[in-house]
Amino acid sequence: MHKLILVTGGTGYIGSHTVVELMNEGFDVVIIDNLSNSEKSVLDGIAKITGRRPYFEQFDLCDKERVHNFFKIYRKVGAIIHFAAYKAVGESVEKPLMYYQNNLISLMNLLQGMVDFNVHNLVFSSSCTVYGEPDELPVTEKAPIKLSTSPYGNTKQIAEEIISDTIKAHELLKAIALRYFNPIGAHPSALIGELPIGVPNNLVPFITQTASGIRDELKVFGNDYNTHDGTAIRDYINVVDLAKAHVVSVKRMLAEKTKSNFEIFNLGTGKGSSVLEIVNSFKKATGRDLNYKIVGRREGDTEAVYADTKLANEELGWKAEISLEDTLKSAWEWEKNIRNLK
Ligand code: WQD
Repeated sequence: MHKLILVTGGTGYIGSHTVVELMNEGFDVVIIDNLSNSEKSVLDGIAKITGRRPYFEQFDLCDKERVHNFFKIYRKVGAIIHFAAYKAVGESVEKPLMYYQNNLISLMNLLQGMVDFNVHNLVFSSSCTVYGEPDELPVTEKAPIKLSTSPYGNTKQIAEEIISDTIKAHELLKAIALRYFNPIGAHPSALIGELPIGVPNNLVPFITQTASGIRDELKVFGNDYNTHDGTAIRDYINVVDLAKAHVVSVKRMLAEKTKSNFEIFNLGTGKGSSVLEIVNSFKKATGRDLNYKIVGRREGDTEAVYADTKLANEELGWKAEISLEDTLKSAWEWEKNIRNLK
């Protein structure tokens, strides 16, 4: 079986957790990352957890020649997991061209490399944002793709189409797109986790930074939604559970077990949690109090979205297993570790 897996964006949040799970399963890993949104020290965390260091190549996937030369050197890549992309929804609205250029040119250079060097297997990091505000809940993979509310979400939709068209033109290529819901938490070792730069956009890092005193209070964006407690509902999935789904997907392709050349799976828990439920669950899990204030809705937010996970459960034999409380506890342990709190 091919042992070398390329992970682009492998020093990032989900990428680093996936590298750990791949190495734990005996794969060798090479990471390509330009460190634009992560730190090289993540490699030390990975090495401490797994006892091995992944290969690491620092360059920008938008540099076509660098990508070509990479594949000239690394000839034994069995599969690629492609995480490298900008992912801040709000920033993408302010800087659409930066998002379209970065997220799409990097993908196309990678696909060209796959075609030129006979690398057949791609796992693509997609997102539930492709569903927009779903008509039905839970959301299945057959739900209609909605016009995205952000250039970021649109890059995910366009990327899936580029991959689909490339596969149709090159019959040996296969891909699995994994549509994540809301990844949260950190590795139980607290040696790797989410490292948001600046003020976090996402809920859980904002919560942990409020609990550690970096932020004064959490603003809850709206409590006038048509939900049981008025706050918006999401499907929060543990990042280690998410990482394991990528390993299962790579193994599925290497073992030639895919049912078509382009498969799509939702990765969630199948359970929706409101913002206030996350706040209360965090307080219960960590014993920390939390300052928060209800404010107006955030532009572009959907009311409720959570996954139908049947397809991933049945086809991948994968399901999320780590509880919400343990996940929030792991986020807090990671926060304490990076802030040197006891
Ligand atoms: C979750 C809920 C907010 C912050 C985004 C991207 C998605 C994926 C995950 C990349 C919402 C509320 C948040 C805060 C709050 N990213 N909230 N106060 O928007 O569901 O998804 O991140 O792939 O693609 O769209 O995640 O964590 O920002 O928000 O009340 O300070 O928490 O309104 O209801 P979101 P989020």
